Amino acid sequence: MLPVGRRTTISVIKCDVGSLAGHHVVPKIILNVAEKNMKGAKKRGLINSYYVFNVGDDIELLMVHEKGERNAEIHGLAWETFREAAEKAKKLKLYGAGQDLLKEAFTGTVSGLGPGVAEMEIEERESDPIIILAADKAATGIFNLPLFKIFADPMNTAGLVIDPTMIGGFKFEVIDLVEDKKVILKCPEEMYELVALIGSVHRYVISRVWRAEDNMICASISTTSLTKIAGKYVGKDDPVAIIRAQHGLPAVGEILTPFMHSYLTAGWMRGSHWGPVMPVSLRDAKCTVFDGPPRMIALGLQISDGKIAGDDEGEPMIVDLFDDPAFELARRECLDYTAMLRRMGEFEPSRLSAEYMEYSAITRVMDRIKSKFKPLLEK
Ligand code: F6R
Ligand code: MG
Ligand code: MG
Repeated sequence: MLPVGRRTTISVIKCDVGSLAGHHVVPKIILNVAEKNMKGAKKRGLINSYYVFNVGDDIELLMVHEKGERNAEIHGLAWETFREAAEKAKKLKLYGAGQDLLKEAFTGTVSGLGPGVAEMEIEERESDPIIILAADKAATGIFNLPLFKIFADPMNTAGLVIDPTMIGGFKFEVIDLVEDKKVILKCPEEMYELVALIGSVHRYVISRVWRAEDNMICASISTTSLTKIAGKYVGKDDPVAIIRAQHGLPAVGEILTPFMHSYLTAGWMRGSHWGPVMPVSLRDAKCTVFDGPPRMIALGLQISDGKIAGDDEGEPMIVDLFDDPAFELARRECLDYTAMLRRMGEFEPSRLSAEYMEYSAITRVMDRIKSKFKPLLEK
């Protein structure tokens, strides 16, 4: 058994390398490539535990190890895995094969190459419950609202008023995706400033959260912008988040409460529409209607002695938290909003405003009619 306080790293690295039936789902044959490589890495002792899953057309690699964040070996493992999976997808002529592998050369990190990354090095507590959130057909800002509720809203998180270890509040790191800057704001003191920023979900995204009184890391979120890397729309970012729970942090139930209701995210069809979030089980993490509605899954696990706590066979014990009738209301609301938004077709605000639309095709459409425009006063 590792000593208490031993540092353990949780890495979730994800990538769309190609999918079955358009952008619908990663087939088992592709997930098997990831499973094989993760198994090999565990055998070599590079990682201690792993869990391979998919959310729609994205492969998600959950790896637990002791190499720290931004480690070249861990990122290299993910990169090689995605490349091999993309090769297989290409051979099978799956859709969008290799889609998120935007650069050729690996530079020691997958950041800036296409895959999304959320990582958190923690000092293990006596017991460390973790929740992984992951979304498909959604923009990075999808987590701003729930993270605010979880770590700053006393109407959501009772612990903010009842648990004396949380009364010092939480600090949020917010990234400005336009100017490539970051700022740290502390709640409750700077709550209004925080909301002023993160309400602009296209531009400002929460990337990290710490407990203020002791700077304990409690959330880490991927902030990759594929459009920025590629210089054009190639697919939605479909972000992931790692959140720590309990014992002086929001409880698992407080982390899940924001998902009792659906809310809107940018993404959905062609990355260019407001779409309602549907919290679903892994089984239902596949997009259909209008390439959506955007799905989100939540996995629960325990970090234990440098690993994911496992069963007698050493298999990681993972719970599928949205596989629960308690989220039926959100799913129902999501369908109501889906119907309402789709009735509006391509009229704003159903479609994103032009400055936020991801699809470069619209520019080409506009180019075709540009020469027909005449000044208003011309006869
Ligand atoms: C959204 C997404 C899909 C595609 C759409 C058109 O992230 O991936 O909604 O944008 O299916 O795809 P293409 O242009 O590949 O036919
Ligand atoms: Mg895709
Ligand atoms: Mg996707």
